[in-house]
Amino acid sequence: MTPVRVLAVASEVYPIVKTGGLADVAGALPIALKAHGVEMRTLMPGYPEVMRRLAGADEIRRWPDYFGGPGRLLAASHDGLDLFVLDVPHLYARPGNPYVTAEGTDWPDNGVRFAALARVAADIGHGLVPAFMPEIVHAHDWQAGLAPAYLHYDGGQRPGTVMTIHNMAYQGKFDRSLVGAIGLPAAASFDVHGLEYFGGISFLKAGLQLADRITTVSPTYAHEIQSDEGGMGLGGLLRERAGVLSGILNGIDIEVWNPQTDPHIAYRFGAQDLTFRAANKAVLQQQFSLDSSDEAPLLGVISRLSWQKGLDLLLEAIPTILEQGMQLALLGSGDRDLQDRYQAAARANPGRIGVLIGYDEILAHLIQAGSDALLVPSRFEPCGLTQLCALRYGAVPIVSRVGGLEDTIIDIGEAGHDPTGFKFAPVTADAFAGSLRQANAAFHNKATWRRLQLNGLATDVSWRHRAGEYAALYRDLMTARA
Ligand code: ADP
Ligand code: GLC
Repeated sequence: MTPVRVLAVASEVYPIVKTGGLADVAGALPIALKAHGVEMRTLMPGYPEVMRRLAGADEIRRWPDYFGGPGRLLAASHDGLDLFVLDVPHLYARPGNPYVTAEGTDWPDNGVRFAALARVAADIGHGLVPAFMPEIVHAHDWQAGLAPAYLHYDGGQRPGTVMTIHNMAYQGKFDRSLVGAIGLPAAASFDVHGLEYFGGISFLKAGLQLADRITTVSPTYAHEIQSDEGGMGLGGLLRERAGVLSGILNGIDIEVWNPQTDPHIAYRFGAQDLTFRAANKAVLQQQFSLDSSDEAPLLGVISRLSWQKGLDLLLEAIPTILEQGMQLALLGSGDRDLQDRYQAAARANPGRIGVLIGYDEILAHLIQAGSDALLVPSRFEPCGLTQLCALRYGAVPIVSRVGGLEDTIIDIGEAGHDPTGFKFAPVTADAFAGSLRQANAAFHNKATWRRLQLNGLATDVSWRHRAGEYAALYRDLMTARA
């Protein structure tokens, strides 16, 4: 098998910089692809955390003026990942979250910041780094969306391009005046078949319009985004391009998420000794100031607090949680309003509702290891990763029937399959509460619950086969363009 060289472009990569599942995918997929004959290098911006961790990186290119200030391209290896880092201090040397200011608003120059990333991706595609000439450029989300656009408008020979949608809600929309400033041909590219989007421009739309292939992170989401509602403005385009659109499920890194070796949990366990979970549950109850009780089903949540995640429905379901004798441990951050409402719920229900606002990797592992069920009541969910971790840790997922949640969890009522959890539809507080009641009944039937847990543990949530689907896509695209 001849190796395929792929340049991935991502604005966050675990374990270096992460705000959500995109980083997990960008960090795990390249490693899993090695077994499938794909040599992937990943281009990311040189945020302060990246520069700190990759202090020994090699400079392979230097520009006195890159989009308004000095810039460098660096190459480095980190934790099995081969990286290119675009070090442009005036664009990326800013503390905190990669996309927003300390006040939580988008950096006003995000258009230029991520155009600069895509520009160098296209240049690597054209051969800027002779030691790594990619056959495919694979762009993740809107931040990388202009990479296929630059390659398209540059003209001449170019590598194949793949655009992956991790979330349709973030489209990278900017004023049309940006087009000239980022070096795209205004007349050609400000067009309905290019960047133009409702009078402005959209980086995601550009990628979806101009990439050779489009993927998203589950088959059901691939279907949903072709509707007007799920497409969030881009449904029509995706219907037109349905022939090149496919859904490939995400996996998780089963070394990082391994309950038998996990250094972050109180007691390690496997399928043989699931009873050890009780000890993790006790520690989790302590950490969330919940009453210590093995009998009360403990529901866990690890999530961004945003409209997408449906956590306002969970607030509405709190009376059901209380009435059923369940407990809740929620770890999350995001919308101020949701943060406040959850903190108020915890104050009103001491010992029963525990809330920690913040981002905490270690606690996320403990929640997976110690909660009885993991909740994901999303309004839409391209794939979702926490329910996959839950399967691997014996926390039974209770999820809405959308996107990747539909594709990765088998409902207790699905005939002819080994069930792994509970799915509810429509995405309403009532339907969710119904699932919680159903789960509570199942929890108190030890044999039923154990079966759900063991089915979950037996589910393959790794990248092994799913990476193979990307490898097949790259090869298929190369054959089609040959
Ligand atoms: P999304 O990318 O939409 O936020 P995913 O389920 O795909 O949703 O991925 C979320 C990732 O971020 C998971 O790895 C999850 O464990 C992690 N995560 C989310 N919120 C937190 C938090 N508050 N603390 C620690 N990890 C979190
Ligand atoms: C997005 C989606 C999530 C998905 C993740 C990784 O952030 O919201 O569903 O799992 O990307 O693909």
